Amino acid sequence: MEKAPAKSKKTRYLVGDFDRTRKFFTETLQVIGGLVLAILIGVGVALGVVLSKKDSSTSTSSSSSVVNQTDANDPSSFEKDSRLKQSFYGIAYTPAGSQYPDCGNSLDDVITDIQLLSQLTTRVRLYGADCNQSALVLEAIKQTKVNMSVVIANYPIATDDGAAYERQALVIEDALTTYGIDNIIGVTVGNEFILDYLDDNGATDPNSDTGNTGAEILLGFINDTKTMLSNMSISLPVGNADAGSYFNDLVLEDVDYGMANVHPWFANVSVDDAAGWTWLFFEDNDVELAESLSNNPSMSIAETGWPTNSTDAGNESNGPSTATEANLQTFLDTFVCQANTNGTEYYFFEAFDEVWKLEEFGGVEGYWGLFYSNKTLKDITIPDCSS
Ligand SMILES: *[C@@H]1O[C@H](CO)[C@@H](O)[C@H](O)[C@H]1NC(C)=O
Ligand SMILES: *[C@@H]1O[C@H](CO)[C@@H](O)[C@H](O)[C@H]1NC(C)=O
Ligand SMILES: *[C@@H]1O[C@H](CO)[C@@H](O)[C@H](O)[C@H]1NC(C)=O
Ligand SMILES: *[C@@H]1O[C@H](CO)[C@@H](O)[C@H](O)[C@H]1NC(C)=O
Ligand SMILES: *[C@@H]1O[C@H](CO)[C@@H](O)[C@H](O)[C@H]1NC(C)=O
Ligand SMILES: *[C@@H]1O[C@H](CO)[C@@H](O)[C@H](O)[C@H]1NC(C)=O
Ligand SMILES: *[C@@H]1O[C@H](CO)[C@@H](O)[C@H](O)[C@H]1NC(C)=O
Ligand SMILES: *[C@@H]1O[C@H](CO)[C@@H](O)[C@H](O)[C@H]1NC(C)=O
Ligand SMILES: *[C@@H]1O[C@H](CO)[C@@H](O)[C@H](O)[C@H]1NC(C)=O
Ligand SMILES: *[C@@H]1O[C@H](CO)[C@@H](O)[C@H](O)[C@H]1NC(C)=O
Repeated sequence: MEKAPAKSKKTRYLVGDFDRTRKFFTETLQVIGGLVLAILIGVGVALGVVLSKKDSSTSTSSSSSVVNQTDANDPSSFEKDSRLKQSFYGIAYTPAGSQYPDCGNSLDDVITDIQLLSQLTTRVRLYGADCNQSALVLEAIKQTKVNMSVVIANYPIATDDGAAYERQALVIEDALTTYGIDNIIGVTVGNEFILDYLDDNGATDPNSDTGNTGAEILLGFINDTKTMLSNMSISLPVGNADAGSYFNDLVLEDVDYGMANVHPWFANVSVDDAAGWTWLFFEDNDVELAESLSNNPSMSIAETGWPTNSTDAGNESNGPSTATEANLQTFLDTFVCQANTNGTEYYFFEAFDEVWKLEEFGGVEGYWGLFYSNKTLKDITIPDCSS
């Protein structure tokens, strides 16, 4: 086993850490109607359920206004929007209403999303499989007849004896049986699992004893997914996603691909330096690490992007730059086509603003979409490098 090169010491925010889908009750900021309320964690449990229910009801936005179909019964007959260009390598996507146990997603809603996203990219990545989201996305691709592939995912947690993992493995197995693998890029097991594990256990080094203890749990899930696929006689890449400086070597050595979150915003990088910084960080940390491992997993950027708004003034700047649509435009203009040209694989973060995140986390967390949560394109010009 080769030793990974020394990685620079980074704080957790350097790589961005906000997709902690399973940790939403532990945050202390809640925002209701513009009021920022600091609430206690205990209260947050009760309140969180109420907020999530509200979230799922708002997810049933009318699709007709954002995408028109010439045949109302044929989702493949949708009209193209000339503002959208198929310029992105990939896009990070979570269907609204997919936060278990508060499932409120719908096939109609996902169809609208896929109609829009297929005009921007041929690849989407999911974060988990709860609320039947893998099947919904695959069904939407089938009905819209678009050229799109999906990175499906299982989002396990370390402390539930595998309950979340098992629940998602079952629906993944079901979706694979129903839809086959033609539109599937790979199965990602774990999202920021090591980052969260270290965080919860007061450690920072992913290759410390604590990191390796977390890795052992994660490896059990990864290995189980491999066994499941092999039992089904299915050959698909199995990977892992984590923050860009939090890969554990044992985990990366056990997967076909690694997906790294690389966030200039959380690293307090100015928007003018953001594209170059993102590329260099990824090359220096993640690509280099993968090359040093015997299995040489392929690496992509799992998330990079720029927020456009904040629930509170305190979080609307990262120091040198602000969360605005103008700055998202700058990042789009300097990152997307350049990364395509030099063959960097990335999933732009993210498709739509996520209401549940702004309610659960506050700050900029709910405002990373190319589209608002109502599926209207933000005031941005999509770069055109589709050909
Ligand atoms: C859908 O059609 C209506 C009526 O023709 C039009 O006003 C609207 O702009 C169209 N929407 C889109 C997204 O093309
Ligand atoms: C579909 O997209 C893939 C990239 O994801 C591309 O390689 C392929 O050529 C596309 N197929 C068609 C028919 O456009
Ligand atoms: C999951 O979604 C698919 C596609 O819409 C559907 O056929 C299936 O019945 C759904 N399963 C559940 C458990 O909702
Ligand atoms: C996972 O599989 C790898 C490769 O077969 C093996 O070395 C490792 O011990 C397994 N770990 C767990 C926790 O199952
Ligand atoms: C794989 O198949 C074996 C033999 O049927 C079974 O014991 C095991 O539980 C299966 N594992 C998974 C993860 O599906
Ligand atoms: C970014 O700046 C904030 C204060 O604006 C600070 O709390 C945080 O630690 C900084 N993050 C990094 C990675 O330097
Ligand atoms: C690759 O693209 C990034 C921006 O996406 C850019 O910063 C970097 O300089 C490019 N690298 C090369 C070698 O062209
Ligand atoms: C920006 O955030 C504020 C506070 O959460 C919210 O009231 C406002 O509607 C948001 N604006 C947009 C365009 O999303
Ligand atoms: C908002 O800012 C406060 C104070 O700087 C910080 O503690 C908090 O983590 C930020 N919240 C988010 C969601 O970024
Ligand atoms: C969608 O949301 C944005 C931001 O809040 C708002 O400006 C826009 O008017 C909304 N569009 C529709 C059609 O509701």
